[in-house]
Amino acid sequence: MAPFQLQSPLDMHLHLREGDLLNLVAPLSARAFAGAVIMPNLVPPVDNAARLDSYRAAVDTAIGDAVFEPYMTLFFRPYTADELEAMRSRIVGIKLYPAGVTTNSEAGVRALQEAEPTLGLMQELDIPLLVHGESNGFVMDREAEFMPVYEHLARTFPRLRIVMEHITTRQAVAFLDRYANVFATVTLHHLVLTLDDVAGGLLAPHLFCKPIAKRPEDRDALLAAALSAHPKLMFGSDSAPHPQHSKECAGCAAGVFTAPVALPMLVELFEKHDALDNLQAFVSDNARRIYSFTPAPKAVSFVKEATVVPQRYATVLPFGAGKTVAWRLSETGQTLV
Ligand code: NCD
Ligand code: ZN
Repeated sequence: MAPFQLQSPLDMHLHLREGDLLNLVAPLSARAFAGAVIMPNLVPPVDNAARLDSYRAAVDTAIGDAVFEPYMTLFFRPYTADELEAMRSRIVGIKLYPAGVTTNSEAGVRALQEAEPTLGLMQELDIPLLVHGESNGFVMDREAEFMPVYEHLARTFPRLRIVMEHITTRQAVAFLDRYANVFATVTLHHLVLTLDDVAGGLLAPHLFCKPIAKRPEDRDALLAAALSAHPKLMFGSDSAPHPQHSKECAGCAAGVFTAPVALPMLVELFEKHDALDNLQAFVSDNARRIYSFTPAPKAVSFVKEATVVPQRYATVLPFGAGKTVAWRLSETGQTLV
């Protein structure tokens, strides 16, 4: 069977961390993708120019000479126009976390009214808003309960590009078609898992993430939108590595580490559903259009060859550890244009 090729695949939601973990995981993304949107939820958060530049430099060092663009983001706080103008060319968006909803989000937003002046500035400067859309209600309802907030934002700031990050519900899929300025990312794991996989049998801490995987009908709505390459939906892995001791303990950290397996598993999934022709749009073309990106040319090839997912990458365990995937990433190269 001929290799399957993707042109400049992009990961539109990625946690690279810092220090040893950054140096471990960044090359795994840089091998497979042409670029990724890098999340700012570090401790302390990436919310000023000095922190942004030093984090970017650390990411560049970890990537080495791979063809891979780290698209940087800021952690949302009230910013002045001067601050935003100064940093505009170095970021692709600002990530808003409601306070306390996920890993390292304590410095997030407590009252939306306080965010509105900055959101108005972002609209004027054409800086996309990326949102972790969960209320602090009952865990299965948090995303659906957040839809009125998205509605308020979409109406109040009609020229602001709003990205609903890592959507997990049929309500979010339906919401995509309601406002021209609303887009979304979806992960690989939310296309294949439901809450049953996380907690229906023996507890699976490596599948525990925020937002939690939902019901079969939610997973099916997400999968149908991805397989049909819904034009407002982008792939964002939300690959969120935590060391094994933080996952396999009381008080398990939220996050699934998918970066090294995401693309081969997506090829397998789209092939299984006879939708391989739509994968290019889902993992790259939609994002280029929505974010007005032009990623570096990078052809990534896959061969159909059953491959076992490694049990671990040093201190972190990948999604699907020990399982067999039907495709393997074989090579990457510059596209001849
Ligand atoms: C992410 C992390 O660990 O940084 N965790 C997760 O469960 N997805 C944060 C986030 O994206 O919510
Ligand atoms: Zn995330």
